[in-house]
Amino acid sequence: MFPKQASTMAPQVDLLYLFLIAVGLFFSGAIFIAVAFFAVRYRRRSDDDAPKAIAGNHILEATWIVLPLALVMVMFAWGAVLYFKMSTPPADAMEIFVVGKQWMWKIQHPEGKREINQLHVPVGYPVKLTMTSEDVLHSFFVPAFRMKMDVVPGRYTTAWFNATKIGTYRLFCAEYCGTQHSGMIGKVTVMSPTDYEVWLSGGDASEIPMHVRGEKIFQKLRCDTCHFAGDSQLGPKLHEIFGSTVALEGGRTVVVDDDYIRESILEPTAKVVAGYSPVMPTYEGQINQEQLMEVIAYIRSLTEQESE
Ligand code: CUA
Repeated sequence: MFPKQASTMAPQVDLLYLFLIAVGLFFSGAIFIAVAFFAVRYRRRSDDDAPKAIAGNHILEATWIVLPLALVMVMFAWGAVLYFKMSTPPADAMEIFVVGKQWMWKIQHPEGKREINQLHVPVGYPVKLTMTSEDVLHSFFVPAFRMKMDVVPGRYTTAWFNATKIGTYRLFCAEYCGTQHSGMIGKVTVMSPTDYEVWLSGGDASEIPMHVRGEKIFQKLRCDTCHFAGDSQLGPKLHEIFGSTVALEGGRTVVVDDDYIRESILEPTAKVVAGYSPVMPTYEGQINQEQLMEVIAYIRSLTEQESE
């Protein structure tokens, strides 16, 4: 009835699901039995047979309010706890970047390895996916991991899993996205950590880490003229900013994360840092989704290097 369980979340999701099914079966059964029993026990025995009028029963009414309420609160709390677990990647998760487009999955590892409709991961490590779409809504779905997350144009969504079994699992697009939607499928290969290392370093020797690619794009688009010019530069500094909170023109603040950097590249005037003029042009159309992720990886690396 269930697909294979191949992630740490899978047994937990299945247990909750089984609980819901069990509760549903129990009450369906109880209702069918009660209907049959009452139909026989309280059937009309003669033409002038009339039931006694009942004014009400407070204990009975309280019971059928309190018991179902308690039961659905159990479902709610259990589901909420699982939901938070599923939506909070562990801090030490390794990160992989996913771009969905009609009709394929493009995947990039920070070390530079890129793949299409394939995802290779090591067993026993939390993996965080940062995902976006080049065109329409898609949804990244790996049934064996009980993991499904919308992949949305114009923003980043994240999902995570920790694979528990070596093997190959199916990857689906779970959001109707056009004529070839059903063909937008792939494979997730879970390998031992050593096999993963070998896989990661094998193949094309010219593979360049994402942040290095990002730096090249950064220089090609001449971002450095405004952001790395020194004290009188036109744009805000980019070192040691990732993850910090910056003040904006107009008094608001924003946390520098993937989405904010992305927005600042495509729509620079949306949130201007306090003390700067909105002079940056948009780079919409000059940079694709994968390059955007690479530039973000580069800007992130400017912070990570500082903290090492
Ligand atoms: Cu992509 Cu359906």
